[in-house]
Amino acid sequence: MALQNNNFTRRSLLFMPGDSMKKIQKAAGWEVDTVILDLEDGAAQNRKVAARTTVSEALQTLNFGGRERLVRLNHLNTGLPRAEIEATAAWRPDGYIVPKAEDAADLHAVDQLLAIAEQQLGLPDGAFRLFAMIETALGVMNLREIARATPRLEGLIFGAEDLAGDIGAVRTRAAWEVFYARSAVVTAAAAYHLQAFDMVFTDFHDAPGLETESRFARQLGYTGKSCIHPNQTPVVNAVFSPSAEEIDRAQRLIAAFEAQQAAGAGAFTFEGKMVDMPMLVAARKVIARVGRRTPVE
Ligand code: COA
Ligand code: MG
Repeated sequence: MALQNNNFTRRSLLFMPGDSMKKIQKAAGWEVDTVILDLEDGAAQNRKVAARTTVSEALQTLNFGGRERLVRLNHLNTGLPRAEIEATAAWRPDGYIVPKAEDAADLHAVDQLLAIAEQQLGLPDGAFRLFAMIETALGVMNLREIARATPRLEGLIFGAEDLAGDIGAVRTRAAWEVFYARSAVVTAAAAYHLQAFDMVFTDFHDAPGLETESRFARQLGYTGKSCIHPNQTPVVNAVFSPSAEEIDRAQRLIAAFEAQQAAGAGAFTFEGKMVDMPMLVAARKVIARVGRRTPVE
């Protein structure tokens, strides 16, 4: 059943090619919150139908051990999503991902297909969750309408590689070439109460590089990150979980704030720095995350 958005937190999302039963079979062994069965770019053009069949079979037969299961559809203009939903919905993935979302119409179209599937299967409205990938210039320009297109939407996933191709940027390790979009995505997600997932780090042999990039994403406000290799998910899970020190500091800050408020002070000094309402809000967000569950806990 659909879990409530506000008490369900995903940190790591792991893509796996939809046509690779070998990789999908291992998903239950990985330390990952969300498994993405990919029908789009992870499956070659001439393997789209094979991928659809494999994903359908995987959903029917495999136990993902409580991990969230999402299917990434192809873009609407390929004409494929209708058949992709028809082939998979009965096996109850938790949700679907719209790639290269460019406007509200892209989401409405998939939303309608899911509503039809829900009716046919006797499921409640909104049973299937929806996620949108923002990875084109137009998608960034239309973030607001995408973010509020449907109540089914639970998160925005930032795609840096496609975006760089679309805008003619050269990808670098520092990622300043995609910074505007990366920051816009996390801001739109916050404005419309969605989760935000950072871009893939393609150099899957470089764990320290992944950790650095993940930490920066978390500083920007991202709540999780897409992964392409199972060795990336433990790093991402660790970075996107509040540490014991962060929790401890947040608790102390809240206690100090409450004491100062009672004494009539709005701003005060905490560990040598000025603290006022915005820091309290941030501390409360850290504490709020502690109580939330991740799929495999
Ligand atoms: N999901 C599940 N299992 C995976 C995996 C993934 N994304 N990536 C690797 N594995 C498995 C491999 O099958 C391998 O298993 P084995 O040891 O039993 O053979 C093991 O993990 C180690 O993999 P490794 O040999 O290091 O990598 P690889 O050469 O098999 O695969 C990639 C490298 C990049 C092709 C692979 O990680 C992958 O397919 N990633 C996802 C790509 C994708 O979906 N892209 C589109 C979205 S951005
Ligand atoms: Mg993409």
